[in-house]
Order: sequence, then C-alpha cells, then structure tokens
Amino acid sequence: MKGTVILGIESSCDDTSAAVVRDRHLLSNVIAGQDVHRKYGGVVPELASRAHQQNIVPVVDRALKEAGVSRTEIDAVAFTRGPGLLGSLLVGTSFTKGFTAALGIPMIEVNHLQAHIMVHFIQSEEMQNASPDFPFLCLLVSGGHTQLVLVKDHHSMEIIGRTIDDAAGEAFDKCAKLLGLPYPGGPHVDRLAKQGDAHRFRFSKPRLEGFDYSFSGLKTSFLYFLRDEVKKDPEFVENNKADLAASLQHTIIDILLNKLRGAMEHTGIKQVALAGGVSANSGLRTSMEKEAAAHGWDLFIPPFSFTTDNAAMIAITGYYRYLEGLYASDDIAPLARMYF
Ligand code: KG4
Ligand code: ZN
Repeated sequence: MKGTVILGIESSCDDTSAAVVRDRHLLSNVIAGQDVHRKYGGVVPELASRAHQQNIVPVVDRALKEAGVSRTEIDAVAFTRGPGLLGSLLVGTSFTKGFTAALGIPMIEVNHLQAHIMVHFIQSEEMQNASPDFPFLCLLVSGGHTQLVLVKDHHSMEIIGRTIDDAAGEAFDKCAKLLGLPYPGGPHVDRLAKQGDAHRFRFSKPRLEGFDYSFSGLKTSFLYFLRDEVKKDPEFVENNKADLAASLQHTIIDILLNKLRGAMEHTGIKQVALAGGVSANSGLRTSMEKEAAAHGWDLFIPPFSFTTDNAAMIAITGYYRYLEGLYASDDIAPLARMYF
C-alpha cells in the first residue's frame, strides 16, 4: 500500500489548493476559491496573497485528512513555481519550504502550464479515459495562456503556437464584462450561449501565419459592435444577451480549432488533448468531439474538476519528477514568468 506519496500545492492565482497522490492515484484534491475578487471584476493580487496566507494551512490539513495520509508518509511536496502572481506564488513556495524542512523531505518545483497538461495522467474515478500516448498535441486554454503544445513525454514539451496578445480565457472574460456579466465571465457566457443563436452576429477573426493565436482584435470588434448598437438601442445588450454570448463563443472556438487543425495536419499526430480552464467550455468540448470524429483523432478531454486550477495537477506532475529525482534546491524562488 505504501507507493510514492506526493503532496501538491497550487497557489498561482486566486485558488488555494492542496492534493495528495499515491503513485498516479488521486487521494484528495481540496480547492478554496476566493470570493473577495468578485466585486472588483478581476483578481486583485494583493488580496489574493492574503487569502492564500489564510487558506494554505487549513487546505493542506484537509487534503491530508481526506486522503487518510499522515505527514510522515509524504515522500515529497510539489509546488507551483510559476507562472502566476508573484505574491500568490510566494505563499505556496514558502509554505513548501517550511513544511519540507520540518519533515526532512525533498521539494519539487512544477510549471503550472505543464501541470494543466499532466491532468491526463491522473488516475481517479473521474478519469474515464486512458492516458494519451506520446507524442500528442495539447490545446492549452486558460485565463492567462493559450498555447498549442507538442507533448513528447512527461517532462519534455514544446510550444508550437501561442497567443501574441490576449488568452482565450481573457477574451471570454473581457467580452463577458462588456455584457455586464460577473467575473470570471467564461462560465456565464457558456451558460447563456446554450440558449442563443451562434450565427446571428459575426466578429473579426485574426489572420496570422503559422500556429500563433490572437484574440485582441476580436475583443475590439466586440466592443465597437456593442458601442454602435447601444447608440441605436440602449436595451440592445439586454435584449440580445444570449445571441451575443453564443456568437462570441462560436468565434472563439472557431479561432481555436482553425489553428489546431493546421497543427495536427502539419505534425501528422493523431492524438489531441484539451487542458486549462477554458476546456470546461461546453461548446468547445462538443466542437472538439465533432472535429476529432471527422478527422479520426483520439481525443482526451479532462473531467470538469481538473480543467480549472487545482493541486491534483501539481501533485501528478510532482510524482513524475520525483521518479526522475528532479528535486528543487533550498534557495529556489517563484517566477511570475516561467517557460518550458
Ligand atoms: O486555468 P484557469 O483556472 O486559470 C488560469 O491558469 O488562467 O482558467 C481560468 C479561465 C477564466 O478565464 C475562465 O473564464 C475560464 O477559464 N473558464 C471558462 C469556462 N470555465 C472557466 N471559459 C469558458 N467557458 C467555461 N465554461
Ligand atoms: Zn491555470
């Protein structure tokens, strides 16, 4: 029963999370969100670090209890080193330093973006699918990042396309704000889009060479369109919310899938995975299923609980790094920007 026990800590943005894995099996995954940001319409970094500071010990305590694991059974602690908000990352990093020093066990640094992709290797009841074989392509879509990643193995990943401006999640959130929806707007657009006509309005799509993305043009075209229509009819947004949400979501998905299709053809790879917060979007999930069926791709979609930020993804990444002896040194510091 022993196996390798890894505690994972995630604190890169506005969720404090701790999770425990025994080998690849997820034993617990506790997430404490931070409602304090809602009234500001976005994450306030200073408030986020304070909330992490309050949450971290109780969250870890609960994760260990739910896993039925005592502190002395933990082999190593994996933590998010970056990218993210520095003040938030510092809380997780400092906690990990103190905790591992007290127990005399190694700490393992994890790249948050790689970890989003690594959810596909978690074993839990929610994970129905088998894991993808290498190499596969991953469309990583979150609030801060949009990337096409060529995944060669558990440690080696190459970004073959990235956004040159806004991330897909940012496009959802910023446009949602213009519709008067609460932050983060992505899930609200998703919900409204189900009742709307996705072909009613058209917004601009980027014309970029290669596999890079751009979403700032869409945001501007959405803004100007609303501004012009509201001049004619002040009730326009209120009366057309569902169609606006559906058309916006349709455009974002179209942009995402166009580049993915090109990258799949270019690499000749037939396995594709989704990851990151925006992969919770029901329209994106359905469109990916249709696309995969049409092209004969094997598709891997994470369960909802592993799409947005969570520590299960940090723990599983930590487990694979532990197997390779990839430990962090005592003087390690978090990184707001971190590449792989
Ligand atoms: O991966 P994540 O939790 O945090 C980052 O690392 O950025 O992603 C958060 C993003 C937010 O922009 C949020 O609006 C978006 O994921 N999101 C969604 C949905 N659920 C979360 N976007 C569209 N549809 C959803 N259902
Ligand atoms: Zn994330």
